Amino acid sequence: HRTLADLAQRHGRYFGSATDNPELTDTAYTALLGKEFDQITPGNGMKWYATEPEPGVFDWTAGDEIVDLARANHQKVRGHTLVWHSQLPDWVTAREWTAAELRAVLKRHVQTEVRHYRGKVFAWDVVNEAFNEDGTYRESVFYKTLGPGYIADALRWAHQADPHVKLYLNDYNIEAVGPKSDAYYRLAKELKAQGVPLDGIGFQTHLALQYGYPDTLEDNLRRFSRLGLDTALTEVDIRMQLPADAEKLATQADWYQRLTESCLAVRRCVGITLWDYTDKYSWIPAFFEGEGAALPWDEQLAPKPAYFAIRAAL
Ligand code: XIL
Repeated sequence: HRTLADLAQRHGRYFGSATDNPELTDTAYTALLGKEFDQITPGNGMKWYATEPEPGVFDWTAGDEIVDLARANHQKVRGHTLVWHSQLPDWVTAREWTAAELRAVLKRHVQTEVRHYRGKVFAWDVVNEAFNEDGTYRESVFYKTLGPGYIADALRWAHQADPHVKLYLNDYNIEAVGPKSDAYYRLAKELKAQGVPLDGIGFQTHLALQYGYPDTLEDNLRRFSRLGLDTALTEVDIRMQLPADAEKLATQADWYQRLTESCLAVRRCVGITLWDYTDKYSWIPAFFEGEGAALPWDEQLAPKPAYFAIRAAL
């Protein structure tokens, strides 16, 4: 039996899953995680709250556990994420910063973390979720204090700390062509023109049956490729209103198949990562009321129609 990783590798792609530290005591879960995938992303362990809980005090426990697991299973790791408005420690958000202060704080955070994971992660989501739905900049503490230049700065600092790691911007609701993905297109073009070290765009791909399939995904991936950028589907799940039924699961399977085919059809789409692989550990039920069943394996770790549809695409 060939794994999703085997099948993806034949196309020169990886097929991965997010995972999170508390789940790693579940041996049935880790067995499948280690076998089926050739890439993992820490769901939380490399976020700012986890890695720098106090100013200048770094804690690599959670992230290192994921890196060690990946090494044992010969998997590569996507680093997630250095600069994000969410899941920041209180010390970053609970006070006012001058631009000079926050710049120093941000630079130290980015460079210390990138240095720590040098040679251990192949890519970083350097900035996560920088734009609003309408394509304006999200008013994060970083944007408000430092202006839009914080993105180029973070990319440059990361590159100094590890010149070999691939540097990404990552966001949700950018799968289709539209105001938000257009904002990334414009920014990416501008950053490339300025020689800023940007290697790729991560499309989170948190889809929901009730919002429809992003039909322009493949065209959208392709226009970023044409800018000389890699693309990746970085946090894929397809949620639905519960209870699930055969029809919804069939539509979900079709969508998983289509997005897999689209990545394979675009030369620079380098791989696909599920935002965990089993409904047992999906973040969806806790964040979207009444929704769930978003992943290709069910809560008993049994493969769903989506799993077979991905195989069919690969
Ligand atoms: C989610 C995690 O899966 C949850 O465990 C956590 O409580 C909240 O964050 N976009 C991202 C991810 O970039 O980091 C988020 O992960 C899901 C949305």
